[in-house]
Amino acid sequence: MRALTILGAVVAAISSLMYMLDSHLEKFYIFTPSELNELSLAAIEAHGNDTRSAVHYIVSHLSTTHPNHVNLDEEWIFNNAGGAMGAMYIIHASITEYLIIFGTAIGTEGHTGRHTADDYFYILKGEELAYSPGSFEPERYPQGSMHHLKRGDVKQYSMRDTCFALEYARGWIPPMLFFGYADTFTSTLDFPTLWRTTWITGREMVTNLAQMKL
Ligand SMILES: *[C@@H]1O[C@H](CO)[C@@H](O)[C@H](O)[C@H]1NC(C)=O
Repeated sequence: MRALTILGAVVAAISSLMYMLDSHLEKFYIFTPSELNELSLAAIEAHGNDTRSAVHYIVSHLSTTHPNHVNLDEEWIFNNAGGAMGAMYIIHASITEYLIIFGTAIGTEGHTGRHTADDYFYILKGEELAYSPGSFEPERYPQGSMHHLKRGDVKQYSMRDTCFALEYARGWIPPMLFFGYADTFTSTLDFPTLWRTTWITGREMVTNLAQMKL
C-alpha cells in the first residue's frame, strides 16, 4: 500500500511538472518559425537550385544569430522513419527544439509520424505532397513554401523527386526519437547509422544543456 502511495505521489509530481513545463515550453525556444521562413526564402533567392550553397547560406547565417547552438559540421546521415528514407544534417538538437536539413535526391514517401512537437518544413528545393485521410486532393508544398504539421497531427507525405527542406520541430523532442529509430529495428538494421545519429543527437543535446538550453 505504502509503495503504491509513493508511486502515486511520484507519478502525480512528474505529471504536474510536465504539465507546468508544457505551458512554459515557449520560454525555451531560441528559433522562431518566421525567422526560419525568411532565412529559407533568402537562401533560395541567393542560390536558387544550388541547394548545397543554400544550405551553407542558412547555416552560416544561423551561426551568427545563434552562436554556440548551431552545428557547422555537415555530418550527413541517412534517416529511415515511417517508411520514408532520406538524408539529414543535424544543425541543432536540444530537448525542446531540433533543426535539420532533410531530403532526398531521388524521392521518397511515407508516414509523417504523430509527434509531441510542432513541425515546420521549409521547402528549399523540389516539392512535397501531403494529405490527411478524407482528402481526395493532395496538399502541395513547392519550393519556398512552408508545411506546418501541427503537434499530434498525422499525414502521408511524399517527395516524388529531388526534394530538400529545412525542418524545424519545437515541443518535446526526446519522444520523437522513437519514431526516428523504429525503422532501424524493423527494417534497415543499419546500426552504424543508428549509432552515428545517436552520437550526434546526444552530443548536440548535451552541448546545449551545458549552456542551460533545454
Ligand atoms: C528550380 O528548378 C525548378 C525545376 O527546374 C524550377 O521550376 C524552379 O524555378 C527553379 N528555382 C529557382 C529558384 O531557380
